[in-house]
Amino acid sequence: MIASYPDQAVAVLFSGGDAPGMNAFLRAIVRLGLNREKIAVLGIRDGYRGLVRTARAVNGDTEAMVRLKQDIATHTGRAGLISEQLHIIQMDHASVSGIMGKGGTILGSARCLEFHDKEVRAKVLRLLKGLNVRALVVVGGDGSLTGARLLAEESDLKIIGIPATIDNDLQFTDMALGVDTAVNTLVWAVDHFIDTARSHRRVMVLETMGRASGDLARMAGLASGAEMIITPEKGPLKAADMERLAAKIEGAMTRGRGHAIVLVAEGVEFDPPQKRNRAYVLMDAFQQYFQRAGAPFQDLEVRPSVLGHLQRGGHTTPQDCILAARFADCAWKAIGDTSSGSGITALRKNIVEIVPYGTPDMPERAEFSHEMEQLHDDLSSW
Ligand code: F6P
Repeated sequence: MIASYPDQAVAVLFSGGDAPGMNAFLRAIVRLGLNREKIAVLGIRDGYRGLVRTARAVNGDTEAMVRLKQDIATHTGRAGLISEQLHIIQMDHASVSGIMGKGGTILGSARCLEFHDKEVRAKVLRLLKGLNVRALVVVGGDGSLTGARLLAEESDLKIIGIPATIDNDLQFTDMALGVDTAVNTLVWAVDHFIDTARSHRRVMVLETMGRASGDLARMAGLASGAEMIITPEKGPLKAADMERLAAKIEGAMTRGRGHAIVLVAEGVEFDPPQKRNRAYVLMDAFQQYFQRAGAPFQDLEVRPSVLGHLQRGGHTTPQDCILAARFADCAWKAIGDTSSGSGITALRKNIVEIVPYGTPDMPERAEFSHEMEQLHDDLSSW
C-alpha cells in the first residue's frame, strides 16, 4: 500500500556547478510548497543524474514504480537524505531547517552528459509522470537551463528554470543566485592579499572564475578596489597588451604606489594561446617587463594565485538568500498559473518575473558590464 505517496508533487533539482543560495532556494521552495500551496516537494539528489539513475532503475516497470513510491513515502525528509540509495526525497520542514546560509547544496549537484540524449530525457519524463510530478524546477547555470529548455520542448510538463551560477553569464537576468556571495568572497580574498602585497611591495595577480564572462572579476574589482581588472570581453591578450598593463603598474609605482592587486578572469585568452593558468602567464610577462635592462623597479616581485573553488563556497549573503526566496515565490506563482507555460525566473530592474526559454540577452547587461569597468577605472588613483 502506498498510503502517503502524494497525488501531486513538484520536483526540484540542482545541476551543474553549485552556487551559494541553492540551499536557501531549496528551503524556500519546500516551505512555500508545504505552507502556502499544500503541494509536496520532491528533492532530486545529484541533479539530472539522480533522475537518470532512477529512471534506469525503474525502467518502465510498474512494480518497480510502486516500490519506488513506497520507498519515497517511507523515507521522507532526513531519513531520505541519509539513505544512499534513494535519489528522490519527499522534503519536509525539518529537512530544510538550518540550511539557509549554508553554501553548496544538501541535495548535491552534478553535470550529466547522458542528459544530452533525447531518449534518456524521454525516460526521465516518463518517470516524472509516474511520480505524479506536475512541475520540475531546475536550478543551475547555462548548461542546466538548456537541459530544462529541452525538457520543456519535449513534454507538456511545466519546467521552471532558476538561474544560479557565480559566473553571472546569463544575460536575461540582472543577477543569478550565488553571484553576490561569490563577489563577497572575492572581496574578502582581495583584502587578505592586500595585507601581504603591501608588506612586501608586491604585485599580486589573482585569477577569478566566471567562464567566458568577466562579470565576476569586474564586480569584485569594483567592490574591492583592486588596482586592475583584466576581462575576456576585450579579446585575447598579445605580448604587447601585457607589456602595456605592466607599464601601467610600473607607472603607478613611479608615482609612489607600493603594491598592486590585479584580478584576471579565467575566461581571458592569449594570442598565441597559452596552456597555463592566466595568473601564471601574466606573472611571467609582468616580471619580465619589470626586470628589463634599465627598468626602475627591477626587484618588484609578482605572485600569482588561482582562487578556484574557494569562490563557490561559504556562507550565503543575505542578498542571495532574499533573491532565493523571491525566485521560489515566482516559481510557485508560475506553477500555479494555468494560463502560462514553462519559463525561467529572472531579476530585471529589481522585478522578479518569469521569462520564456530563449529570451534574448538584455542589452542593459552588456552596457552595465562596460559601465562597471569604466567606473572602476575612473575610481582608480593611478
Ligand atoms: O560555472 C561555475 C564554475 O565555477 C565556473 O566559474 C568554472 O569555470 C567552473 O564552474 C568550474 O567547474 P568545475 O567545478 O567542474 O571544476
